[in-house]
Amino acid sequence: MSVHSQTTRVSIPQIMHCKGERKIAALTSYTAPFARLLDESLDFILVGDSTAMVGYGLPNTLSITADQMAAHAGAVVRSTSHACVLVDMPFGSYQESPARAFVNAARMLAISGADGVKLEGGEALAATTRFLVDRGVPVLAHVGLMPQYKNTMGGFKAQGMTDESAERILQDALAHEQAGAFAVVLEGIAEPLARRVTKSLQIPTIGIGASPDCDGQILVTEDILGLSGPRIPKFAKQFADVGAVIRGAVEQYAAEVRAGTFPSLDQCFGVKK
Ligand code: KIV
Repeated sequence: MSVHSQTTRVSIPQIMHCKGERKIAALTSYTAPFARLLDESLDFILVGDSTAMVGYGLPNTLSITADQMAAHAGAVVRSTSHACVLVDMPFGSYQESPARAFVNAARMLAISGADGVKLEGGEALAATTRFLVDRGVPVLAHVGLMPQYKNTMGGFKAQGMTDESAERILQDALAHEQAGAFAVVLEGIAEPLARRVTKSLQIPTIGIGASPDCDGQILVTEDILGLSGPRIPKFAKQFADVGAVIRGAVEQYAAEVRAGTFPSLDQCFGVKK
């Protein structure tokens, strides 16, 4: 018997079939408590390498490892039963060669039970997408602003603002589609370009800082819940202030501990009533 429980999750083909039918809703999650809360409402959960910054407080996404990503993905898979779970291939785990990418992807999927991987990269990485897909690893491609390439791209800047850059991003997306990617994340690109890419592809586009006309949307969960600090990216929207709720609860807990009103005998063992 598999170590991963049997479920009826949203499948990769179901996500593909959403194109032209209905929008795809996705968010990131890295841990069990959040994944449990997100599961029912989403088509897929991405265990993004953004956890390097959001979860570990690192300055960028470059120093998280495949084993760390697999451990986070395992937590998300174990605590969900509805949403498809995808895991980011971290920097250095797939760029060297398609064969190396397969070994790392297979290991991450075996450890976690996730349904597929996401990888960042332009046309040059399409051969890797082909290699993985041909060997049974579903690939969500990621083009446009690619945080893993921030050193070569000159920072976290919106892309596709010139005709040349827009054309390159369109070709990147088309190359991954041809290579068998089941969908493409379009991050931080000019809105008209996102619309053009969405029209040009048969597979769904998932926007983040892209366009309302993308086939789906993804955001970092902490950004929509008020858990990312005082400033969120321009492309995000805060849907709730969970941070304020947590701060209030913690303040009350600390006050009760200091006042000696928590714990009461109700929270103790062996108390005779
Ligand atoms: O790492 C991540 O969380 C991502 C998404 C936000 C697309 O790549």
